[in-house]
Amino acid sequence: SLATALSSAALAQDISGKVVGFSQIGSESGWRAAETSVTRQEAEARGVDLKFADAQQKQENQIKAIRGFIAQGVDAILVAPVVATGWDEVLTEAKEAEIPVVLLDRGVDAPEDLYLTSVASDQVEEGRVAGQWLVDTVGAEDCKVVELQGTVGSTPAINRKQGFEEAIAGHDNITIARSQTGDFTRSKGKEVMEGFIKAENGGADICAVYAHNDDMAVGAIQAIKDAGLKPGTDILVVSIDAVPDIFTAIAAGEANATVELTPNMAGPAFDVLAAYWADGTEPEKFIITESKLYTSADDPAGEYERRKDLGY
Ligand code: AHR
Repeated sequence: SLATALSSAALAQDISGKVVGFSQIGSESGWRAAETSVTRQEAEARGVDLKFADAQQKQENQIKAIRGFIAQGVDAILVAPVVATGWDEVLTEAKEAEIPVVLLDRGVDAPEDLYLTSVASDQVEEGRVAGQWLVDTVGAEDCKVVELQGTVGSTPAINRKQGFEEAIAGHDNITIARSQTGDFTRSKGKEVMEGFIKAENGGADICAVYAHNDDMAVGAIQAIKDAGLKPGTDILVVSIDAVPDIFTAIAAGEANATVELTPNMAGPAFDVLAAYWADGTEPEKFIITESKLYTSADDPAGEYERRKDLGY
């Protein structure tokens, strides 16, 4: 398990018995499910008592859960914020209760002193990596892109859009023809892609789909197949997360590229909390995880197996 990969330094600080509340967004994607299971593993490996709250995609549920954690007097709170805005009040309440808050995988538009640290990827960079892959792949050919955005108002949706646009800027042969949210889910990704295909000459005019996560890409792949086209060939597929299912698609030639997002945000979070509890060490405000590109050249079958072994 991932727990065995923990550094001995991290385990040296004993945080067993600490009570940590985790306000999770929900289970919209395979990546989200992996993050939940890895967070449980990381807590268990350290003897941390993790109080888990599933917000079912609703910010109001997250705010309620955080208030509940504060009332219980937990030692720390982990939160994966579904959207960027609307956190100031509840984060101020946690601060006043002297409970450190660590943001996982998504950011907030709130003053930085309201949370201890944020463990997340550089989501603009993820978009850039995906966009650069497309730029390098299509060369001088004209390419009409359709974009499946993540949850409206979430930082990964905002930033992945921006990064991709930055990468294709100046390449006038590549244009984003349509862009709509698929809410990070497989079913919505499929549904929105069906609409794109209808609107774009049965899909014949689409060169590539850029999905803000793999689950929407997997949904889009199904829609492309249902339309009688070949995903990965007739329509290129590039997305973000690197979950096992996208490696299956890449191995089958039905998807082309993905950018990895580690599901282990909790490991670094517990490590900084351990140091903070030990002697008040203030961590860096932003702990940035890696954004690596994977294509068919990167042993997709092996990557699938490797992730399955990690407990995805
Ligand atoms: O915040 C990270 C994003 O949330 C993942 O890329 C996506 O799969 C999830 O829903």
